[in-house]
Amino acid sequence: MPETPQQAAAWAALEPHRKRLEAAPLASLFERDPQRFERCSAQAAGIILDWSRQRLDAAALASLADLAEAADLRGAIEAMFRGETINTTEGRAVLHTALRQPAGAGIGGTEIEAEVLAERSRMLAFAESVRTGGRYRTVINLGIGGSDLGPAMAVQALRHHSGVSAGQSVPAVHFAANVDGCALMDLLASADPRHTLFVICSKTFTTQETLANARVAREWIAGALGEAAVPAHFAAVSVNAAAMDAFGLAPDRRFRMWDWVGGRYSMWSSIGLSLAIAIGARNFEALLAGAHAMDRHFREAPWAQNLPVLMGLIGVWNIDLARLPTLAVLPYDSRLARFPAFLQQLDMESSGKRVTRDGEPVRHGTAPVVWGEPGNEAQHSFFQMLHQGTARAAIDLILTLRSSCGREDLQELALSNALAQAEAFLHGRSGEGVTTHQVHEGGRPLSVLLLPRLDPASLGALVALYEHKVFVQSVLWGINAFDQFGVELGKKIATEVLAQLRDPSVAASPSLRGLLARVRAGRGGGGS
Ligand code: F6P
Repeated sequence: MPETPQQAAAWAALEPHRKRLEAAPLASLFERDPQRFERCSAQAAGIILDWSRQRLDAAALASLADLAEAADLRGAIEAMFRGETINTTEGRAVLHTALRQPAGAGIGGTEIEAEVLAERSRMLAFAESVRTGGRYRTVINLGIGGSDLGPAMAVQALRHHSGVSAGQSVPAVHFAANVDGCALMDLLASADPRHTLFVICSKTFTTQETLANARVAREWIAGALGEAAVPAHFAAVSVNAAAMDAFGLAPDRRFRMWDWVGGRYSMWSSIGLSLAIAIGARNFEALLAGAHAMDRHFREAPWAQNLPVLMGLIGVWNIDLARLPTLAVLPYDSRLARFPAFLQQLDMESSGKRVTRDGEPVRHGTAPVVWGEPGNEAQHSFFQMLHQGTARAAIDLILTLRSSCGREDLQELALSNALAQAEAFLHGRSGEGVTTHQVHEGGRPLSVLLLPRLDPASLGALVALYEHKVFVQSVLWGINAFDQFGVELGKKIATEVLAQLRDPSVAASPSLRGLLARVRAGRGGGGS
């Protein structure tokens, strides 16, 4: 469907708000409204969102809400939860919310609910047996993209929630994703094959990187312990049963997923097996419960108090009206170091689209360029640009109120740094005695997210919050957030190039011939 007159009018109505809000210093919004923080903050599932530092006010937000109404955001949210085929280009429902539902919630219908709960308990029982069985000391997850980033981010984030008391130990959980094999080789150098379990995570079980690493792992086990030992050292998660058969995976060590969950939305499924091994079944369930609490909030809360809706509207505002093409995500908790990388796939693979659901060119800018690092380290790296550079970024500061490593004194320092930066970005610095080189213009908009602590429930809620934020943006832009055709072309060409790299007689394109010859020569002229 092309943009409706109602949508076009709603987009046009935003422009005067942009002009009006750009005319005054951002800090003046607080002077005009002493209650601004109370009006421009909301809370759900334990997370507080402070958007008072965005260049927005109630009137502009109401206009954004009109845009959401015109795009039928309400209908889109319900269609997702009801399991309608909203991923139209792939002909699939989108039901990651079904994966974190408790018994009785009925998300996706009773059949899907029953399948999800049954597979979840199989997976968690297996995870517990690996944790407590004593056989495995090392677990290595082999997967890439959504089969790596979510679980890897969460294992790091929840290190302090291993679910064991002092003196007990659980297997160390590691991740290897890259096709060059170096991460895997580094891990194998100190692992003992007798005590190592590989978890192959691949929705399709056709992904080159994952299969290449899985082959190396298989050879390593078979070489050290014999072919017969292979099944006891592998588990797998996939929709592709035939490929798991071909690999020789034991039936009780393979876990299913469903077509209706996309890779970047899949950490709640058995793709989270390595995470469940690291944190235990109870903590994994708490993660799901936190995400489900955010799901309910998203579905039920009025928009003015609805965190994912607010963040989605702010996301669109910052890209299309405030012209802030990038989003810096800055967690003030080292354990969230991989969170920006996780969000890169979530937001950019979902929103990086040039056509609408109907294949028409988009009329508005889409995905933000997401980037970021833990806040304090970033302060000593790229904050210079954020404060004084010409390139502008939207900013999300993520603060955890309690220490994730038992050092409240140090977390107090981290928090004071985060709050100080928020003030510096808002007020800047100028006036008497300040040279032009020292001027900070200020007026850099940002949001603050406060988490009570980094625990499984808060992390689940945080991830679900961003998932839904991405969905809200996609509805306003009219794009499909659940396909990813843009990753296919390079994969296809890589297959052709591999043949050309190995065999000089295979014809290559004129643009590649020269470079290919240098690569071959630099590698000694040989192939593999
Ligand atoms: O290349 C992109 C992608 O398709 C992602 O969407 C996905 O998360 C990743 O590859 C891994 O896919 P799979 O789980 O099928 O190996």
